[in-house]
Amino acid sequence: MEPPTRRPDVVWRAGIDLNPLDVQDFEDMAWLEALVWPEHSERRDRLSAVAKVAAEDPPLLVRGDIVEALPQLVNEAPKDATVVVFHSAVLPYLDPDHRRRFVDLVKGLDVTWISNEGEAALPEIKDQLTRSAEGRLVLSLDGVPQAFTGPHGQSCEAL
Ligand SMILES: C[S@@+](CC[C@H](N)C(=O)[O-])C[C@H]1O[C@@H](n2cnc3c(N)ncnc32)[C@H](O)[C@@H]1O
Repeated sequence: MEPPTRRPDVVWRAGIDLNPLDVQDFEDMAWLEALVWPEHSERRDRLSAVAKVAAEDPPLLVRGDIVEALPQLVNEAPKDATVVVFHSAVLPYLDPDHRRRFVDLVKGLDVTWISNEGEAALPEIKDQLTRSAEGRLVLSLDGVPQAFTGPHGQSCEAL
């Protein structure tokens, strides 16, 4: 995987969570900061930086289940845009049947699918690995592993 030479033009952003947090809400940000271990100052810096980016162009936040809410949200995306469905560290919270329904759903949508999950989350992705991620997440594009990533966004090793 070659690193990109420029950032993509993001024309629309939306996110789904059972309990979405808003970076423009003081209490939500205080909660997110409280979750970072005291000695992890780099993580706090990264959180502040991404919160600034999100606050400059706030996404549409949808409270709901990833499987229930995704089709409608994809449908709302601008028609001439490439729709990218990205998720990170979410699938462990879904039971196996729910997870299967999510994977079948996303594969059936006209989207680019980027997953960033632990290697145990998606067996069909794990089966393609020739070595262990050793605690890192597996970044995959349309079901094909591309990199091992640090679970807090701190590293990316191309495969
Ligand atoms: C470990 S956090 C990951 C947050 C973020 N994606 C990241 O990588 O930093 C897991 C998130 O998944 C959300 N979640 C769990 N089950 C979900 C579901 N069925 N539908 C939507 N979101 C869900 C939780 O509310 C929580 O915010």
